[in-house]
Amino acid sequence: MELASSPDLSLGLDIWKRLEPFRSFYYHMLAKREELSRLSAPLKTSLQLTQLAAAPRRADEPYQFAVLGDVEPGRFWIWRKLFNRPGVFSRQIRALQDHPVDFTMQLGDMVSRGIARNYLRFFRELRKAGPGRPYLTVIGNHDRLDPHLRSNSRLYRSCFGSTNYFFDRGGARFVAIDTSAKHLRPSQLRWLDRVLRTSLRKVVFTHIPPAPLRAWTDFPGVKPGVGGFQRGAAEFMEILSRRRVDRVYLGHIHGFGVQDYKGVRYVLSGGGGSPLFPSKVRDRFYHYILVTVSSGGVTETVCGLDGGRFGIPAGQVLLSF
Ligand SMILES: [Fe+2]
Repeated sequence: MELASSPDLSLGLDIWKRLEPFRSFYYHMLAKREELSRLSAPLKTSLQLTQLAAAPRRADEPYQFAVLGDVEPGRFWIWRKLFNRPGVFSRQIRALQDHPVDFTMQLGDMVSRGIARNYLRFFRELRKAGPGRPYLTVIGNHDRLDPHLRSNSRLYRSCFGSTNYFFDRGGARFVAIDTSAKHLRPSQLRWLDRVLRTSLRKVVFTHIPPAPLRAWTDFPGVKPGVGGFQRGAAEFMEILSRRRVDRVYLGHIHGFGVQDYKGVRYVLSGGGGSPLFPSKVRDRFYHYILVTVSSGGVTETVCGLDGGRFGIPAGQVLLSF
């Protein structure tokens, strides 16, 4: 019997050929994942923190860091067309190089949807702009597989690591907490309360504002506070007040604002490069924030893309109502 004329072999070859498009797709996806793994490896949170810890600050030594808000370019074509301004993210990363910041904290929503293609675009753009110094992130709802439905954060975690973490630098403790699923679990709240039990200054970063900050979270014609997270919000704010947190930085709403609420200052910074959608927040402009930490406290300078700068007043303020 000749092998080439075997009906079984012919059938096998035929199936193999028919599967060609699927094999190509699989290899394509594999190549993307490999590139993503290579590009994201240096940006792992643990590596960034090791790099930061290699140049420590004394407890009384003043230093600066930068806060950059949402940078995802808009999920749908029409939004990008109407509201996006391409290249802002890169320009702001380059502008940051002129300042002696110890690190940058990005407040989430790096990508429009947490899939490999989008993360690849983000890492390529970031690499080209070259942040130079440690670059840390908070996960946003858009960094998950689906930004608005129940979904997972697997890809973010494989690129960066844990979505809840903290570190100390000089006289301050910094805490990043994951509100990307639009709630805080009791275990997260217990963890937050525990890590905020310190005599150091305390700075918290998270993506979505708690619903009670209604100057930012109310959208016209819908349920009050819908733009923020509800479950765990009251407990979150109670912990921040009780632990006397110096500052909370939030993104998600593409604009800028400051609110003092029960002794805690909340700063909204969602102007990293994402489309400036119409919203209740009046102050919508591209910017990053330079934050100075010193023995005297925490102070900020807001730097606009147009070159304008201003300091946030120390007294009680309510901006962007
Ligand atoms: Fe968001």
